[in-house]
Amino acid sequence: MRTKIKNNVSWVGYLDWELETFHGADYSIHNGSSQNAYLIEEGKTVLIDTVWTPHRFGFVENLASEIDLKKIDFIVANHGECDHSGSLTALLDRIPGTPVYCTALGAKSLEGQYGKRGWNLNVVKTGDSIDIGNGKKLVFVEMRMLHWPDSMATYMTGDNILFSNDAFGQHYAVGELFNDKANQCLLRLEAMKYFTNILNPFAPILAKKLDEIAAMNLPIDIIAPSHGAIWRDDPMQIVRLYAEWANAYRENQVTVAYDTMWEGTTQIAHAIADEIRRQSPETVVKVFNIAKSDKNDVMTEVFKSKAIAVGSPTVSNSILSSVAGWLEFLKQLKFKQKKAAAFGCYGWSGESVKQLQKLLGEAGFSVVEESIRPQWKATQDDLAAVPAMVKSLLA
Ligand code: FEO
Repeated sequence: MRTKIKNNVSWVGYLDWELETFHGADYSIHNGSSQNAYLIEEGKTVLIDTVWTPHRFGFVENLASEIDLKKIDFIVANHGECDHSGSLTALLDRIPGTPVYCTALGAKSLEGQYGKRGWNLNVVKTGDSIDIGNGKKLVFVEMRMLHWPDSMATYMTGDNILFSNDAFGQHYAVGELFNDKANQCLLRLEAMKYFTNILNPFAPILAKKLDEIAAMNLPIDIIAPSHGAIWRDDPMQIVRLYAEWANAYRENQVTVAYDTMWEGTTQIAHAIADEIRRQSPETVVKVFNIAKSDKNDVMTEVFKSKAIAVGSPTVSNSILSSVAGWLEFLKQLKFKQKKAAAFGCYGWSGESVKQLQKLLGEAGFSVVEESIRPQWKATQDDLAAVPAMVKSLLA
């Protein structure tokens, strides 16, 4: 099965309705996903990317039912990660010697993952192009660190399609394939979740790359990413959103995230949330128990927030392991220009707040001085410190 994208360009990917997690179990999937591969049939027949390894045989069979595989003049591997390169083994077994175009690091990645199989790998760099007939060309643009060192995008002149690979994608299965057919709220949410959890660490690089692409003055009619909806209705909307998101994005929101042993820290979390509502009714407040919440969804809320408050009781002179793991992930995502506060009750030694403040600082947050650190259960006196802490967070 194929779906026409524009003129002689078709989608030949895999709609992964049943996918529940991605990157192992590190990224939650709530609305399916897709691995998008594209077939161009101009003077030359070109395949842009493939699909994930478990679907490789179905992918090749599907492709063979649409065209004579021997007609494929070359393959573009925009990115070596196996959700896009994983079918190359099965495909190149059928059409050995077919040229594969990729970046220098893409070649390393492919050989590293699949071994030296004598594939006809051809290295390209930004600005290189290949004539595909009918007056059209494919132009390559390296997308280093967006999100892997080997990542690349491919631009098709004439039809003005940017095959952007992971950039501008979403883990969201849209049966009709196009952004104008998708649920718009879900599309924005999934695009933001993808940006937060996969691209935000590279936001400064992304901002520069967006400028570089803009300077190339390429007319773009369609942005065809390797996951999720294809942007054909106002495709630049996702570029504008990325420019906004890559620049220390913040909404008027505060997120409270915590874990607890005996509900003492829960009590403080809710007192903080109540106080935020009291001091700033227009501020969106969200509260999550880290141990019971989807970490990727919570991080998307953190991405939207101008400040966070993080809580853990003291356990074994430190913090709960759920919060420690969450903070490590928080650090990886390299959020910018956000404030943070720490809170947590204790029974005996009470190190958690100091530890939280240290880890929040290491994660790049501006940690406010005020904290809430009651022994045992918080009294009204302990909670009297909440307004000052909230005031600092909102300032
Ligand atoms: Fe969709 Fe980086 O792979």
